[in-house]
Amino acid sequence: MLLRSLIVGCGAYLPERVVTNDEMAKLVDTTDEWIVERSGIRQRHVAAEGECTSDLAVAAAERALAAAGMRGEELDLIVLATATPDHTFPATATKVQARLGMTRGAAFDVQAVCSGFIYALAVADNFLRLGQARSALVIGAETFSRILDWQDRATCVLFGDGAGAVVLRATEGTGTASDRGILSTHLHSDGRHYNLLYVDGGPSSSGTTGHVRMEGREVFRHAVVNLAEVINETLAANDLTAGDIDWLVPHQANRRIIEGTARKLGLTTDRIVMTVDRHANTSAASIPLALADGVESGRLKQGQLVLMEAMGGGFTWGAALARL
Ligand code: ACO
Repeated sequence: MLLRSLIVGCGAYLPERVVTNDEMAKLVDTTDEWIVERSGIRQRHVAAEGECTSDLAVAAAERALAAAGMRGEELDLIVLATATPDHTFPATATKVQARLGMTRGAAFDVQAVCSGFIYALAVADNFLRLGQARSALVIGAETFSRILDWQDRATCVLFGDGAGAVVLRATEGTGTASDRGILSTHLHSDGRHYNLLYVDGGPSSSGTTGHVRMEGREVFRHAVVNLAEVINETLAANDLTAGDIDWLVPHQANRRIIEGTARKLGLTTDRIVMTVDRHANTSAASIPLALADGVESGRLKQGQLVLMEAMGGGFTWGAALARL
């Protein structure tokens, strides 16, 4: 018998406040035209004062649990991906756990910045495959607005806040690509590129929270290469070709990176779930936000093959293939 992690519910939450590119142009020397042309971003959501990553995560989790027809107390595991935790410790996941009424099992955070959701999904999937948990809640939640330098036009226009979540349940599979559930996950990192995308603060190095620093052009260059490689690795591992993929649900950093990746695969844009225009880059939250968007709009359907991929600070990158 082989165990698979079936995605049984998706949920998302975006803070109420929307900040348009025109509003950004009042803060820094930029234009709507520049932002749209370079990134595809038209607006972003920004958390209210006092609204924390855990608040966003709980809202998304409650929606995912409702979609799965489950209660928090039935969960065995919570894995929460974030680079913007409420506190240095404890893990934001434990705060979410308490608010969902779950008092057993385990809850912890995973840190891989924009690749965080893929990392968290891989961790949870492995717990379920090994039989160490029967169900898991995987969350990507961020309040990136809190670590942006709002005077640095090269970074502050690119990010937004939000949260997305999926509920996984262990189910028996045959071990072939026709199974429903997560078929494979593939993780990579290369810490040599640390200084191309990082936060210049932290409890151990500076005692401050710090701000996002990025060599945008370099990140772009690495992203296109690394994402193409990990996608090919994922397809080969499952003996599939790009033509078998129903939907690409990529990390939403930049429309040009997404379309470049899809072009390399030979995937037309009507097979990509694109939310970067409305959400901007929400780091670990972007893939589960896009998944929920695709499900709610009726585009993503049961039985379809979905390829998720991401790259982020570290560098970290990875992909996951799932049949819904
Ligand atoms: N408005 C107007 N002009 C700007 C802005 C802005 N918001 N930001 C930068 N510029 C200027 C620069 O100062 C520069 O001016 P100069 O030529 O006079 O020096 C000019 O625009 C070009 O800057 P570049 O950085 O070379 O522009 P580029 O075409 O590379 O686009 C961008 C920048 C959008 C950041 C792009 O490099 C990118 O998307 N990189 C990937 C970064 C990314 O997605 N990071 C997210 C995290 S990692 C991930 O998720 C994959």
